[in-house]
Amino acid sequence: MRNFFLSTVLTIACLLGTAAQAQKPVTTGDAIATDEVRNSDKSNPVGTFEAGKGTFLLNGKPFVVKAAELHYPRIPKPYWDQRIKLCKALGMNTICLYVFWNSHEPQPGVYNFSEQNDLAAFCRLCQQNGMYVILRPGPYVCAEWEMGGLPWWLLKKKDIRLREPNPYFIERVALFEAEVAKQVKSLTIANGGPIIMVQVENEYGSYGANKGYVSQIRDIVRTHFGNDITLFQCDWSSNFTLNGLDDLIWTMNFGTGANIDQQFAKLKELRPDSPLMCSEFWSGWFDKWGANHETRPADDMIKGIDDMLSRGISFSLYMTHGGTNWGHWAGANSPGFAPDVTSYDYDAPISESGQTTPKYWKLRETLSRYMDGEKQAKVPALIKPISIPAFRFTEMAPLFDNLPAARKDENIRTMEEYDQGFGSILYRTSLPELKNGATLTVNDAHDFAQVFIDGRYIGKLDRRNGEKQLALPACPKGARMDILVEAMGRINFGRAIKDFKGITRNVEISVDIDGYPFTCDLKNWEVYNLEDTYEFYQNMKFRPIQSLTDRFGQRIPGAYRTKFQVKKPSDTFLNFESWGKGLVYVNGYAIGRIWEIGPQQTLYVPGCWLKKGENEIVVFDIVGPKEARSEGLREPLLDQLQVQKPLTHRREGERLELSSERPAFSGSFKPGNGWQEVRFDKPATGRYVCIEALNSQDGKPLACIAEMYLLDKNGDRLSREPWTVSYADSEDVSHANRSADKTFDLQESTYWSTVEGSSYPHAIVIDLGAIHTLTGFQCLPRMESEVPGSIKDFRIYVKTQQFNF
Ligand code: GLA
Repeated sequence: MRNFFLSTVLTIACLLGTAAQAQKPVTTGDAIATDEVRNSDKSNPVGTFEAGKGTFLLNGKPFVVKAAELHYPRIPKPYWDQRIKLCKALGMNTICLYVFWNSHEPQPGVYNFSEQNDLAAFCRLCQQNGMYVILRPGPYVCAEWEMGGLPWWLLKKKDIRLREPNPYFIERVALFEAEVAKQVKSLTIANGGPIIMVQVENEYGSYGANKGYVSQIRDIVRTHFGNDITLFQCDWSSNFTLNGLDDLIWTMNFGTGANIDQQFAKLKELRPDSPLMCSEFWSGWFDKWGANHETRPADDMIKGIDDMLSRGISFSLYMTHGGTNWGHWAGANSPGFAPDVTSYDYDAPISESGQTTPKYWKLRETLSRYMDGEKQAKVPALIKPISIPAFRFTEMAPLFDNLPAARKDENIRTMEEYDQGFGSILYRTSLPELKNGATLTVNDAHDFAQVFIDGRYIGKLDRRNGEKQLALPACPKGARMDILVEAMGRINFGRAIKDFKGITRNVEISVDIDGYPFTCDLKNWEVYNLEDTYEFYQNMKFRPIQSLTDRFGQRIPGAYRTKFQVKKPSDTFLNFESWGKGLVYVNGYAIGRIWEIGPQQTLYVPGCWLKKGENEIVVFDIVGPKEARSEGLREPLLDQLQVQKPLTHRREGERLELSSERPAFSGSFKPGNGWQEVRFDKPATGRYVCIEALNSQDGKPLACIAEMYLLDKNGDRLSREPWTVSYADSEDVSHANRSADKTFDLQESTYWSTVEGSSYPHAIVIDLGAIHTLTGFQCLPRMESEVPGSIKDFRIYVKTQQFNF
């Protein structure tokens, strides 16, 4: 009986067709850049840079690296020189930079080292400005950049193991590093160039423990850069020993406010004679869509730099100037899925658009005391931003009237399988008759899906919130269902970097028939690849805008275009507060992503990409604008969050009830920085874990945790990938992001903090996603030497059922 209904009700959905899966040919044309090695200025003397006893040695003399981190692809090329000069004027002596593999090799074997990507030209410019260079060629870089710098096309090999000794991965890395060396090997200090050190991999300790793999990367770099270049690794003080190779220099990464002695304690113990360097001293932090704009106090940064320099410790200030994640290049953070915004302002001393900030002047003043007799360079002229009067968009090209040719596919596939790297993808199929509606399950939509039935908007699935299901209304047999999936940046941190886009597994509908649930996979799709390129949008058929809503009264996804006038081109910030979600192009330049939820509402448009007179703007908005207008502002809007769901994890009136619960463990932490571990007296089994903090080390009401782990039955760290916060009594999200999920975000410098003034006991409840047997708990307090909010006595409760609150 059940089968009868299943086959009659869902026949269309279950019919199997032969799917011709046409693949776009891969263009492996000639390399864009020439292969010739560009020599450095022969008049520059050759030099040496190496580790001496407790210090670096430059040409044999003690040298403290004062590096400013800048990423050339994040800065318009015409502004490179001015930004380097701004760093020089701070009192820095080095530029530290990443090489983003994916922007240099858009397709396998197609290399681009020209224009914005001209790494060699950037290094030469550094040298002309009297700056040394630290090169960080990855292959993985993190950096809040799409897939941590790895090219998306690696994912066309579905079973590839990234950042591991996987033959294909290593083969591609070797080919790429050879190209990097072709560009800049002649610019190493041994060849009279500015490059003093090259980094091997990047913070591998937060990915795994695999000295074999890290050694392979070291050997590749050595092979192409030669034996006379100094190589180093960077990691966290808590995990650098996992992958530290004997023949490489070890440097530490940590943020403003951190206890510097504690950060170098382990290194000093293991290598008492090593030069000390903080290779990433985080001046600020990056912003994510739907979360508060991040800032870090200038005084903490100054204190840290002063402290390090007074002891001859080298540093790189990450970021000294962050710049912009143009186009679709912003990455996403994990665990969970937290896509980064377009601006990489980073609350750095030099703003996104190259303006000096109060942090800049304080830092310049501090560095003036460490110039070793040299005069600080003059601050270069700043670019004066302009405003542009409000303008309206005149033309639109509705997406559903402008679909490219479809391909047919029996089963759903990812974007990568269709040879598509970026943009959106539309999956279309016909539904069986749904008399009483159905539940639609999409496993999983990466990253933002909108579902339409016969053109009518049904709802959205936002990966950030773990949304997978929607209720479908009753509809007749053959109704057309469209699932429009927009890919945001691929995850750039942690194990989740293997981040396929589009729909990654399958789509199901479930109906209830006579009280019985039936679920069926939907098959036979028409797939439309909407590649994010300017040409794709320009080739759409535009018509004058008559209305911004369709026949259902809903906003219209599509491309919107207009011309606007600029009297005297200069930097500006275009305002997109009245738009939905999408990508913006100005005069053909990919400017970045917009999303109404904020916190970023304006996009930085550099004056060097504007023209006197008429300029063209195209916005591809997958939701549709409320008003198709914009204007140029003199200041950015980076902190306008439109909160759609609460940032905290306790609803009004909720109060955790623990009086009838028995703790699995009661204990006390020691005061001070660093990881602490407790083992339970006996294993505890459950899915929901409550950490109840009873009091603090300093007697104050604040409670903070930077990171924590639970240990499984073998005493190993449990994966935190599926964890969610069920409850937290107090979370400070008034201006920063100090919610309880920061206890498992894999970032030791971010933390959960209760609101100032709310008193102990404090508690958080974590849903582990499944039942586990637990044997211990590891906890990291904040990094500052005063350890604010450090917890003393605590209890841990473990339950299979959810707690009462
Ligand atoms: C780490 C990475 C960087 C960057 C920072 C955070 O240190 O090495 O690439 O992601 O975190 O901004």
